Amino acid sequence: MLDMPAIRQDLNLVYDLAPNPDLAARMSAEYSRMSRVVSPADWAIHAPYVAAINALKRERNATILAHNYMTPEIYHGIADVVGDSLQLAVEATRTSADVIVQCGVHFMAETSKILNPAKIVLMPDMQAGCSLAESITAEGVEQMRAKYPGAPVVSYVNTTAEVKAASDICCTSSNAVDIIRALDADTIIMTPDQYLAQNVAAQVPEKRIVWWEGSCIVHEQYTAQDIRDFREWNPDTRIITHPECPPEVVAESDFSGSTKGILDYVSAERPARAMLVTECSMASNISDAHPDVEFIGPCNMCPYMKKITLEKVLWSLHTMTTQIEVPSHIADKARLAVQRMIDLSAAKA
Ligand code: 13P
Ligand code: SF4
Repeated sequence: MLDMPAIRQDLNLVYDLAPNPDLAARMSAEYSRMSRVVSPADWAIHAPYVAAINALKRERNATILAHNYMTPEIYHGIADVVGDSLQLAVEATRTSADVIVQCGVHFMAETSKILNPAKIVLMPDMQAGCSLAESITAEGVEQMRAKYPGAPVVSYVNTTAEVKAASDICCTSSNAVDIIRALDADTIIMTPDQYLAQNVAAQVPEKRIVWWEGSCIVHEQYTAQDIRDFREWNPDTRIITHPECPPEVVAESDFSGSTKGILDYVSAERPARAMLVTECSMASNISDAHPDVEFIGPCNMCPYMKKITLEKVLWSLHTMTTQIEVPSHIADKARLAVQRMIDLSAAKA
């Protein structure tokens, strides 16, 4: 657990982190990407951290990979690459930086390390987990194999390195359907997201898909009745869901896709009003680029993603902690499962 008061004290000895309206005004280019969702007063607080992190990044030859659920000041202020889980994994294979700072959750940092064993991968807060990754172990995968002999295991990237190593191939929400279709098997095991598995099964009825009963604490909270009520009260709103939502929720929506899929859909369709049935930062991060779209709540916050803050990123780069390590006998097997997914997605593109 990070000792934030002590960290704050140490950082203030080295960096000038007091709110700074003059610096904030000079950094108007960064601010223009988030001005609809971050107030000028908040930007004056964030700007000194953004400036310090960006300078340190150059000094350390570091790159910041940030998931679409990061807060706007991280997403627009310090990230070098933003995207969904698949994009971040692919970008991790392309970077020439010596250091990767993962602004996302722990399994994403592990994936970057698996793909880049020689690089330093930093996780700003090791407590940034994921309810899906915590729901299954490698033993759980073996139990599923014993129950369905011969069936290949497709594990969501939202899993630990050990679970990836015990799987045949990984998937993300943007390529799961393609991966299931490409596998030469009638019965396929999907872990650990029961809802992603059920949503994929609905699109690939020719295969028998069996699943582990994990779920995402952010997306499982929505109900079909919530969506029907919302549609009745807001008839002209485009309702867009993430496939980690239960299938009956997805069935009530106009579109369902990964966080990149959601962004692409909004960019292409430009609906007057949109409700993103997903994590709250998704709408915040794309709001300034889509001034003609009114984004309407409710959204749900991911407590794990929200553990990553500018202060913790600065501390991470300053101290070069916490470095992710994956034992090579696990990383080597996990890499096969992740790389198979990346190769199959590239072949489909
Ligand atoms: P994608 O960004 O791949 O859609 O995943 C969403 C998610 O919940 C990541 O934790
Ligand atoms: Fe995990 Fe859900 Fe949070 Fe994504 S949004 S990190 S799947 S708990």
